[in-house]
Formats: sequence, C-alpha cells, structure tokens
Amino acid sequence: MKINLAGKTVSADNADYEVVFCGSDAACREDAEALALAGFGRADVVDMPERRRLYVKIDDPSKDNYNEMRFAAAKAVKALADHNVKSVFVRLPQPACGCVEQTGCAFAEGLILSAYRFDKYKSEKSPYPVEEVLVAAPDGQEDAVAKGLSDGSVLADAVNYTRDITNEPPQVYTPESMASDAGKLAESYSTVTCEVFGPEYLKSENMNAFLAVNQSSPHEPRLIHLAYVPKAASADKSGTSGAFGASDASNSTDASGSAGAQAGSAPRKYAFVGKGLTYDSGGLTLKSRTGMSDMKSDKAGAATVMGIIKAAAELELPFEIHGVLGCTENMIGADAYKPDDVIVSRAGVTIEVNNTDAEGRLVLADCLSWACDKIAPDEIIDLATLTGACVNALGAYTTGVLGCDFDRMMGFKRLAEKSGELYSVLESNKYIARLINSKVADVKNSAPGKPGGAQIAAVFLSKFLPEKYRDKWIHLDIAGPAFGSEEWGCNHAGATGEGLRGCMYYMMLKKE
Ligand code: BES
Ligand code: ZN
Ligand code: ZN
Repeated sequence: MKINLAGKTVSADNADYEVVFCGSDAACREDAEALALAGFGRADVVDMPERRRLYVKIDDPSKDNYNEMRFAAAKAVKALADHNVKSVFVRLPQPACGCVEQTGCAFAEGLILSAYRFDKYKSEKSPYPVEEVLVAAPDGQEDAVAKGLSDGSVLADAVNYTRDITNEPPQVYTPESMASDAGKLAESYSTVTCEVFGPEYLKSENMNAFLAVNQSSPHEPRLIHLAYVPKAASADKSGTSGAFGASDASNSTDASGSAGAQAGSAPRKYAFVGKGLTYDSGGLTLKSRTGMSDMKSDKAGAATVMGIIKAAAELELPFEIHGVLGCTENMIGADAYKPDDVIVSRAGVTIEVNNTDAEGRLVLADCLSWACDKIAPDEIIDLATLTGACVNALGAYTTGVLGCDFDRMMGFKRLAEKSGELYSVLESNKYIARLINSKVADVKNSAPGKPGGAQIAAVFLSKFLPEKYRDKWIHLDIAGPAFGSEEWGCNHAGATGEGLRGCMYYMMLKKE
C-alpha cells in the first residue's frame, strides 16, 4: 500500500473512495442527517457506498500516544477490506497538540499494520484491495505530514517484515533460513553488514549453553551478527525524531535536541539480542500438545531484531546498531541435552539444567556474554518470547520490561510506549534471585514450582553479562504480545512484530 501526500489540486474526485475522519461537526456537516439516522457516534464507522464515502469516528487524533489515530485508520482498513476500491482519499484531521507529523506517522502505521496479510501458503490469495492512499494535509503543514507518512510507512513495513519471518512454518524456516534472510538484508543496504557463525565457531567461543540446546536438532545453529553503521554525515545530524513525538518527550536534559551523537564524537552504540528458537518443542522436558502449538513463534525476538536493523537503515538513524541473533531449534532425541546436565557457559558461569524447556535463557546467556565482549555497547537490549509466566503476570498484550536498573527500565517504558505498544516493568529482588541457586553448579536454569517466572528468568540472564554491562541492559519478555490467537489493536491473529516500534521510538526519543 502506497501512502502519498495529495497535491493541492487533488480531491476525493481523484480517488475511488473517500475516508472522512469525523470528530468535529465541520467534517460531518454535509452528511449530518444521514449520519444521525445511521447512529453515527454509537457506531464508529458508517459506510455510504452510494456517495463513495466512509465515515470513521475519531476523537483527538493525538490521544493515547496517537493510538486514536492508529485505531481509526485500522477501522477504515477493516471496513474497506471487501470493497472493490483501489484508491482512497483522506483529509488528515488536525490534532489538538498541533503535532501533525506524529499524526501522519501514526496514520501510516495504522493503515499498513492493519492491511497486513500472511497468505503465502494459501492457494487462494487475498491481497488487500486498496493500493494507494492520497492524504491531504492541514493547510501549510504538507512537509511535516509528508515526513510523518514516510517514517510511519518505513516503521510499519519493517513490522510486517518481522511478522512475515515469525509466521514462517518451522520446517521451512530453520536457523539457516534466518541467516540467509539476514544476509539479504545486509545486501539491500550499504550501511548494513552481516556475519554468520556455525557450530565450530560456537565451540571455539565456549558457547556451550547455546550448543546444548541445539544438540538434538538436525539443523545446525547459527549465531548471526548484523550491524548498521550510519554514514559519517548522518552520525552528526540532529533533530531527526520529529515524527516519533520528540516534541512532547520531556525527559531531555540535552538542550541541543540531538537524538544521536554530538558532532565529532562516536555515535551511540546499541546492541539488540534476539531469541531465535525456530522451534521450541520443550526438548526432553517436552511441552504438552497445546503448549507446543504456535512455538514457531519462538523466533519472534530474533525476527524483531532483523526488523529493527531494517527500519534503522531506511531511516538512517544516527546510531550504531548491532543485532545479535541466537538461532536454533529445541528438539528431542537420543543426543538431546537433559535435566541434570551441567554446562559451562561462555561467561564461565556453570549451569545445572533442570528443565530443557527453559532453553531460551541458555541461548541468550551465551549471546549476551558474546555481545558485551565483542561489541562493547552503550546499551544492550534483548527481546525474547521467554516465559509463560510473563503472559500470566501482564496479560497477552503487554511486554515485560526487566533488568537490573529500575530507572533505566522506567525510562525505557516511558519512551517505548509513545509507539502505542504496551510495556510494564517487572522488578526482581534478592529473594527471587536466590531461587536459582543450585547445589551442584553456580545456577540452575529454572525454579520449579516457584511463582515470578519472568523475574526468575531475568535474574538468570543477568549472571552472564559482565558486571559493568548489567546496568546498561534491558530484557524485554515479548512472550505475550509477539503472537496472538485473535486480532487486537492493529494486529491480526498470528505474528504481531510487537517490540519493534517500541525499541525504535525509544532510540529516537532518547536524549542523553
Ligand atoms: N518459549 C517458551 C515461552 C513461551 C510460552 C513463549 C508461551 C510464548 C508463549 C519458553 O522457552 C519456555 O518454554 N519457558 C518455560 C520456562 C519454564 C520451564 C521455567 C515456561 O514459560 O513454561
Ligand atoms: Zn521452552
Ligand atoms: Zn522457548
């Protein structure tokens, strides 16, 4: 779907259909009587095919981190899904805050995220009918709206790219497939590089926790390192974050307004580490029939990191951004790792395995250790579908924000939520920390029967980062929102790509 700014002379006559966002009487006036009859107000959407017009109710578009705008766009997309309409004209409503760039961005996000389809494996395809959306900006605000539409399109396209990867079936999409896609990503952008490592390298780096998980899979593991390095010029540029709401992010102590590096200094360096379990059967601690279904989605963290690199490259962010993906299956077999095994991890911390289904933390343990040592990041963030406990604690729509530094976690939540995604901080404590003490090793990989599983997993992960990186680290547990059984917000059933926009908004809005 192409979303373009409409020129001054373009009107609804130049499109098959018009979408009218209506909160103010002015926008509705022409059809006021018909709308009243149709119950508009109680009904959010009223379609008038005879007038080639769709009315969608909207309050202040900047409300709720611009979700009002995103969801109104989503309602329009849904209402037109079975129409024979190729082009649509829309007049963008004026937000109370005056932030039209952010409104444009949110509008494009809402449209593209909602029009997503995954029909690659269906014999009968059902592409979304609307191909072009022509957007009229409030007077004199054309440039700001055009920038917002463009940034929002890039973000949402990257989310859909992530969704496509996560939705791929597990027999097709192996660690090798992920490596091949990461290679293609690097080929597409001159600012992105990709290195792929196999089992021999993992052995040479003592990544024995990662290797243990892979032990009974017929598919070799892959450690993938993507790196986006901004062109010299872009590392110095400032004030690129308008469309993401920088104007209302009030955390800044930096009066310069620069979202990236100051001229002359090295760009800020982020490392994103993704859990890439292309399938999680649970291993010998086998999952149940229902627990196993949808476990192709256990690669969502890694897929999201790929999407972050793609979006960063297209937006030419002024930061250095690394993606480290730990990719393997967790399967069963005679050579599977087993409860009672003791593993010496890359960091030298020894692990008693008591549950082979707590495999993500083993892969991440070695990847976090590797990323800190090899990349020396200013900040390190991992994304993982790590625990069912996080879903129980927060519900299926919210990402858990965990780590060692409360202020960092709160800071992340506050900025990431500007994307409209939901984040909630889960704190650990010393009583939770001692639940992974082991009698035979430094730590055990789960605490059977103990509540607080999301925090237990976070405490486990913290042991594998060198001390000086622990306060620079955030762990995002996306087990709930990464994959859904029904539609919600701008998401469909299946992969959502949740986490990507939050991380992008965080980087864009953060000023230090
Ligand atoms: N991949 C799962 C977590 C998960 C559960 C993701 C539900 C998405 C939806 C993870 O590897 C796992 O199995 N975790 C265990 C940990 C336990 C054994 C300590 C869990 O949550 O049950
Ligand atoms: Zn598992
Ligand atoms: Zn898993």
